[in-house]
Amino acid sequence: MSTVSEPLMRLASRVDAIEPFYVMELMKDAQALERAGRDIIHMGIGEPDFTAPEPVTRAAADALHRGVTQYTNALGVTALREAIAAHYRDVFGLNIDPSRIVVTAGASAALLLACMALVDHGDEVLMPDPCYPCNRHFVSAADGKPVLIPSGPAERFQLTAEQVAEHWSDKTRGVLLASPSNPTGTSIEPGELARIVESVRERGGFTIVDEIYQGLSYDAKPVSALSFGDDVVTVNSFSKYFSMTGWRLGWLVVPHAMVGPLEKLSQNLFICASALAQHAALACFEPETIAIYEARRLEFKRRRDYIVPALRSLGFGVPVVPDGAFYVYADTTGVHHPAAGDSEALTRSMLHDAGVVLVPGADFGVHAPERYIRLSYATAYAKLEEAVGRLGGLFRR
Ligand SMILES: Cc1ncc(COP(=O)(O)O)c(C=O)c1O
Repeated sequence: MSTVSEPLMRLASRVDAIEPFYVMELMKDAQALERAGRDIIHMGIGEPDFTAPEPVTRAAADALHRGVTQYTNALGVTALREAIAAHYRDVFGLNIDPSRIVVTAGASAALLLACMALVDHGDEVLMPDPCYPCNRHFVSAADGKPVLIPSGPAERFQLTAEQVAEHWSDKTRGVLLASPSNPTGTSIEPGELARIVESVRERGGFTIVDEIYQGLSYDAKPVSALSFGDDVVTVNSFSKYFSMTGWRLGWLVVPHAMVGPLEKLSQNLFICASALAQHAALACFEPETIAIYEARRLEFKRRRDYIVPALRSLGFGVPVVPDGAFYVYADTTGVHHPAAGDSEALTRSMLHDAGVVLVPGADFGVHAPERYIRLSYATAYAKLEEAVGRLGGLFRR
């Protein structure tokens, strides 16, 4: 019997530049423990525990039955672009021309398209460290160079205008921000954001602001970066506030001059976002659906208000209270555990010894990640209480 050996394939070097998610390794261990009968509480995943509400699934079923499942315009269904523009008017009082809205396959495709359109070979893009890990990879995919700037509690884990000015070089093309941020749940204070936009504008660069968690803001009323000029590129998604992660739908708001180039890129790279998801998403903006989303937002706030003091009482440092998203980026150096200050070892112990999954800081940056863990409170309140009890037991040992 002859065996056909696989041809030797040379992988592109860009694959080497992409780091695996540490949390995925923890998840594999968690799944193995679950198969062995252990009860595991998941606070690692950045995904709402809510799914698309009934008006949205009803709209999807209706679209399916009507057969509106064929390719759409690469920029998105007109009615959806208009509905998104109306949402900006209702929530922020902003008048956004629907033709500036580009519907995408999630914020992921939006970030990739924005980088493909704006970043050239060797261009540097500034971003805070810690940040959403894929951001560096979107920039690298466009042959650019992500520049991670250490951003600690003093800066709310975000970039400041001063840092932007300090790190800007002749190779810098722009900044990539997220407000509120993953992994920290902290927003950029609007005055600071205005100064960043202005500073980048003066240098002829671009500002991309990922606003995927903006709908999940708990304290002050959020301010969209679009308030600071039509030249700002914003990213958003139906994944988080709208609880539609697997539907793969998001959008960009871009300056008029970018619409044509993005249409061309989008046609070639994706053809369009899912037609079914786009038709379903129209129902997101109905008053009855917004009422459901607002109730969910308040539930996230309730969990935030419980978990932050609970973490502090366990010995974790929460130097900046997160004002949005569903994450807490907590300092582990003060916990009573031999692995305090070594977040990878600590997350392993929390999983194996307490059955709780959290993510080590190493997934989000390179500057002092060992101090921090990210906790996602996108899990039921009762589970959060149970997790706090288990961790309390672990730290008392
Ligand atoms: C900050 C941030 N941006 C983008 C994404 C990607 O989201 P989407 O599901 O819309 O592609 C995520 C997902 O966790 C995120 O946290």
